[in-house]
Amino acid sequence: MRFEGKVAIITGAGGGIGAATARIMVGEGAKLAAVDVDGALLESLMGEVSGMAGEVVPYVSNAMDPEQVSATVEDVVNRWGRVDILVNCIGGTAGAPDSRARIEDVTLEEWQKVLEFNLTGVFLYCQAALPHMKEQQSGKIVNISSQVRYGKSDVVASYVAAKAGIVSLTNRIANEAGFYGVNANTVAPGLTLTPRVAAVRWDTLTQAERAKYSERIPLRRPAVPEDQAKAIAFLASSDADYITAQVLEVGGGEFSTL
Ligand SMILES: NC(=O)c1ccc[n+]([C@@H]2O[C@H](COP(=O)([O-])OP(=O)(O)OC[C@H]3O[C@@H](n4cnc5c(N)ncnc54)[C@H](O)[C@@H]3O)[C@@H](O)[C@H]2O)c1
Repeated sequence: MRFEGKVAIITGAGGGIGAATARIMVGEGAKLAAVDVDGALLESLMGEVSGMAGEVVPYVSNAMDPEQVSATVEDVVNRWGRVDILVNCIGGTAGAPDSRARIEDVTLEEWQKVLEFNLTGVFLYCQAALPHMKEQQSGKIVNISSQVRYGKSDVVASYVAAKAGIVSLTNRIANEAGFYGVNANTVAPGLTLTPRVAAVRWDTLTQAERAKYSERIPLRRPAVPEDQAKAIAFLASSDADYITAQVLEVGGGEFSTL
């Protein structure tokens, strides 16, 4: 029960990795604010975690709206008195009509949308949660980058740049807030078969294409959401008390080729 009595916020909690993380944390006793713009996804999460050790309150809220972010964090603090853990799972290539577009084909509007989707909400939630963490002299922040941030794959430049930005943002927070007992770390997933990614990518491949893809991963399979959630939960727990400003690569060993 690593999260017994801990107050956590997960953004993008209705998504693949967010929901898997929510299941672990609530299963181990967390009081969780589950934030997502999609109320139906949150409802389905509520069904999954009801009866588990912890408590969950759903917040249908837009992580890119500063007022909604402040209101959510303030409500969490009024309800439970503190914020121990912030996990930002929002992000993705939504906003880029072609997630493999070459630089010449990316419009300014798409570029800005993808940067905003991947960076702004994370920044706003960190900004809103940090004063509470500093005041209580403890806190754990885990942000999600991606192994494509190295820029070696064919993934669209806006997403790659935003995910590299997540690492720098997180390290800056670690540097600023370490004095106050706040840890900030990044998890960098490789391909992870969330329902969305499975539908648009993995399920469209033939058996032979899947086998070829898996062969380049030392552990010979893409990740499942629980692989990422376990790494996130580790960094959000007291097991990681002396770990900060680090990137945990969760790609089955594939990162050196990306
Ligand atoms: N799945 C992968 O293969 C993979 C690989 C590398 C990195 N990542 C990163 O991991 C994180 C989680 O990915 P996932 O695959 O679970 O994504 P997902 O699309 O399944 O979940 C994202 C969730 O964020 C919610 N959301 C979207 N906009 C929002 C907003 N403005 N405010 C609040 N919530 C909002 C969505 O409704 C969705 O439930 C993302 O940052 C993604 O970039 C994923």
